[in-house]
Amino acid sequence: MERPRVFVTRTVPDAALQLLRAGTDLEVWQGELPPSPGELREKARDAVGLLTTLTDRVDAALLDAAPRLKVVSNVATGTDNVDVAEATRRGVLVGRTPGVLVKTCAEFTMALLLASARRVVESDRYVHQGAWKTWHPMAFLGRDLAGQTLGIAGLGQIGLEVARRALAFEMRLVYFSRTRKHEEERHLPLTWAPGLKELLPQVDFLTLHVPLTPQTRHLIGERELASMKPTAMLVNTSRGPVVDQRALYQALRDGVIAAAALDVTDPEPISPQDPLLALPNVVITPHIASASHATRTRMAVLAAENLLAALEGRLPPHCANPEAFRRP
Ligand code: GLV
Repeated sequence: MERPRVFVTRTVPDAALQLLRAGTDLEVWQGELPPSPGELREKARDAVGLLTTLTDRVDAALLDAAPRLKVVSNVATGTDNVDVAEATRRGVLVGRTPGVLVKTCAEFTMALLLASARRVVESDRYVHQGAWKTWHPMAFLGRDLAGQTLGIAGLGQIGLEVARRALAFEMRLVYFSRTRKHEEERHLPLTWAPGLKELLPQVDFLTLHVPLTPQTRHLIGERELASMKPTAMLVNTSRGPVVDQRALYQALRDGVIAAAALDVTDPEPISPQDPLLALPNVVITPHIASASHATRTRMAVLAAENLLAALEGRLPPHCANPEAFRRP
């Protein structure tokens, strides 16, 4: 019997490839850079399954080029790189990897929060440049987390894990979420803000945990930044376009807010010429919040399981469009 053809767009941990290899005719893109849209269309032409990452744009043009496609399994919790509506229209299932990366992303958010508050990156650069001449009582003064207010925009699984960790740092927690989380409020000292308008003026630190949708694009723009304290710091581990990056640059340059730590930018990668990179009060990492050995393996394995389920005629355990599922 002919084995179903599957294309994997990047090298992923071996445990996932072994799972896929057992039941499919597998091809794995070996490039350091992802396939171009044209290359991806070519590879998808006779594929029944695609294992994709957030750097692959899965749009109508790609789906049209892949008439045999049954499933696109994204190695990410976000699916903003996939046109899910177009996939659904064609009966193509879309897999995602929620849950398994939650703690890893929350830990990294804390790393960025601390890096910003205590100027870790800036002072590390100073030492590496050979500029450290003496201990000085006024050098690299930062901000404590203890006693400060953390604003959380989006209280999903990751936002909630960040809240738990911030509590151990004795922060006060205020959140804004599309729906009020009564159950979570019973277990944690969380104060709900009915909107960003109420949330932003009171926070010392703001962390973003919303998916990228048309509603959340530029959620944080000039007006929102202007409503924050001049001492406030912004952390973004969600998606770059949730923040209006030009407005953020101006706010950081002009002292409208104090600092930012970004794991995501718009676009990715950020241009080396981007003026944000010249500011001392910005930390930028290359979209690595979920990048621990264990978590990237769990994500890839889950994505492989989603893909194989679809090929076997089952609903993938984590599916962004279950309405596209047709029982065989
Ligand atoms: C990473 O950004 C993800 O969505 O998993």
